[in-house]
Amino acid sequence: MKIGISGASGFIGSELCEQASKRHEIVRFSRRARGGGRLWSVSKKPDLEGLDTFINLAGESIMGLWTPAKRRRIADSRVMGTRRLVEALAEKGNTVKTLVNASAIGFYGDTGENEVDEASPAGSGFLAEVCQRWEAEALKAEEYGVRVVRVRVGFVLGKGGAMKLIKPVFSLGLGGNLGSGRQWMSGVHVEDVAGAFLWAAENDGVAGPVNAVIPEPFRNHEFTRRLAHALHRPAFLPAPAFAMRLVLGRLSSLLLDSSRVLPRALKEGGYRYRHPSLTNVLIRCLE
Ligand SMILES: NC(=O)c1ccc[n+]([C@@H]2O[C@H](COP(=O)([O-])OP(=O)(O)OC[C@H]3O[C@@H](n4cnc5c(N)ncnc54)[C@H](OP(=O)(O)O)[C@@H]3O)[C@@H](O)[C@H]2O)c1
Repeated sequence: MKIGISGASGFIGSELCEQASKRHEIVRFSRRARGGGRLWSVSKKPDLEGLDTFINLAGESIMGLWTPAKRRRIADSRVMGTRRLVEALAEKGNTVKTLVNASAIGFYGDTGENEVDEASPAGSGFLAEVCQRWEAEALKAEEYGVRVVRVRVGFVLGKGGAMKLIKPVFSLGLGGNLGSGRQWMSGVHVEDVAGAFLWAAENDGVAGPVNAVIPEPFRNHEFTRRLAHALHRPAFLPAPAFAMRLVLGRLSSLLLDSSRVLPRALKEGGYRYRHPSLTNVLIRCLE
């Protein structure tokens, strides 16, 4: 299979390229196309010539203060980038049969104590709205006979990404619960996120939303305790919710809201996790 990948230079994209290139030919798309790669832009249709499948990961990072300009970039990079992609898929002579589009479990908003799966409705808030608009753009590709899978990615752990920020804090013994620590988290190792994208690309029977999270969500205080334990450090310094809101603004909702998400599609589809539990995920992260 010849697979085009946008956001290939990112945290998930790098892992995906490594896994995919063992079995498939890959073409990297980037805003700064270099050696053999192709151009990705929110203002120009990508060149999809010769591709069978497209995996769309591109998007402005959600880290940093959510100023109005940052929020616009978070939304536009996903919505407009995907719109340009679908315009290319609509062209006569398009050879791409499958689009696997990234989304996020932010789609469900703050789930509180409720468990949600792919059949659950969208929630409210900025990220939930961005995810809905992003998915709606991707779904338009179905009008052109393209199989569309929307992978709702959970809290991704690995050697890069958020762990690059969290691990040094915990290693210094400065870790602690966020807010009350009772909020649910739905995590997943980056190797399984990449694995889930590839699984969706390779299996023609898969369509619709797919939650990329481990089978058991965990509370924030459990994550704190296990990570501190694995690093042999104390973790007594809680980050109070009011202080987080003050410093992080609306971004704090990402860390303080509950996300109790189940991966029904991966489970029923027989996806085999490399790291199926929080313990397995943390062991792999700290190796
Ligand atoms: N990591 C997570 O925990 C997580 C959780 C849920 C969902 N996701 C979603 O999964 C996707 C990949 O995540 P990631 O962690 O790999 O992200 P990442 O490391 O930030 O990489 C994203 C890639 O998107 C491209 N990009 C960055 N800003 C852009 C902009 N303004 N316009 C267009 N393209 C831009 C970049 O590629 P070039 O510079 O080469 O163009 C970058 O390598 C994202 O869409 C993200 O929303 C991630």
